[in-house]
Amino acid sequence: MNVISGIAEMQSAAEELRRSGKRIGMVPTMGFLHEGHLSLMRIARSHADAVVTSIFVNPTQFGPAEDFEKYPRDIERDTRLAASAGTAILFVPTVAEMYPDGYATYASVDRITDVLEGKVRPGHFRGVATVVAKLFHCAAPHVAVFGQKDAQQVAVLRRMTLDLNFPVEIIVGPIVREADGLAMSSRNVYLSPEERRQSTVLHRSLAKAGELIRAGERRAGVLIGAMSDLIAAQAAAKVDYISVADADTLKELQVLAQGASVLLSLAVRFGATRLIDNSLVNL
Ligand code: PAJ
Repeated sequence: MNVISGIAEMQSAAEELRRSGKRIGMVPTMGFLHEGHLSLMRIARSHADAVVTSIFVNPTQFGPAEDFEKYPRDIERDTRLAASAGTAILFVPTVAEMYPDGYATYASVDRITDVLEGKVRPGHFRGVATVVAKLFHCAAPHVAVFGQKDAQQVAVLRRMTLDLNFPVEIIVGPIVREADGLAMSSRNVYLSPEERRQSTVLHRSLAKAGELIRAGERRAGVLIGAMSDLIAAQAAAKVDYISVADADTLKELQVLAQGASVLLSLAVRFGATRLIDNSLVNL
């Protein structure tokens, strides 16, 4: 595995791969890698000849009160893990080169960023879309793999890729979970043992809503009520949102229609740690 930090060097390496007829698969990450990230690298490998994984804790997607400074980092461990999952090039640009003095250009995606994560974290998706556009220009991937864990991020990046004519196929990998159901996340290390115990409520409430739907429930309000009751039983949990929305437009639904593709999603805070999870249901 090659480790590259310079943007020009990354672009030459990508050009070289393309010239020799190789397909490039990209997995953008912010590092502190876990099995969720590694699963995306393996998916990328199955769609491409060379996998470029990027690790870049992107300052423009963090709000002023968020955890940019204390976001967990462990580049040595990440280097080993990325290599073990089939990454050919680990791209680790610097903040100084990605956002030099005078930096002024952003990609912002309208409408689907007004809801859910975008509503609670203003400016977050502008930072995500901007950095992913830049990473695509650095690594020139044919395919890029993102996780269903961040469902709205996938919708935003699909929109950006289409609207800005990036010749990149977007592939989505399933959510990888711990044995007790908690979706893997670099931020899970922030949880105290008690919060970690209570955090399984995200997955349990999504599973409960899924069961109710399978039993015939079609009222979004009833599903949200059931999820909210389960979460309320956990003393440390504070709900940011619970949503039952159309999976494509992310508009809230009142009633689940036959044939609908429904995204159940939620964000819950445990102390200073904010966790998200979701589940897609096709009726
Ligand atoms: P990060 O949170 O590091 O996640 C990198 C990729 O891993 C994203 O596509 C995310 O959806 C995926 N991922 C995270 N947890 C997962 C899990 N449990 N199962 C499957 N996939 C999972 O998302 C970002 O970084 C950033 O916003 C980024 C796209 C890199 C732009 O900065």
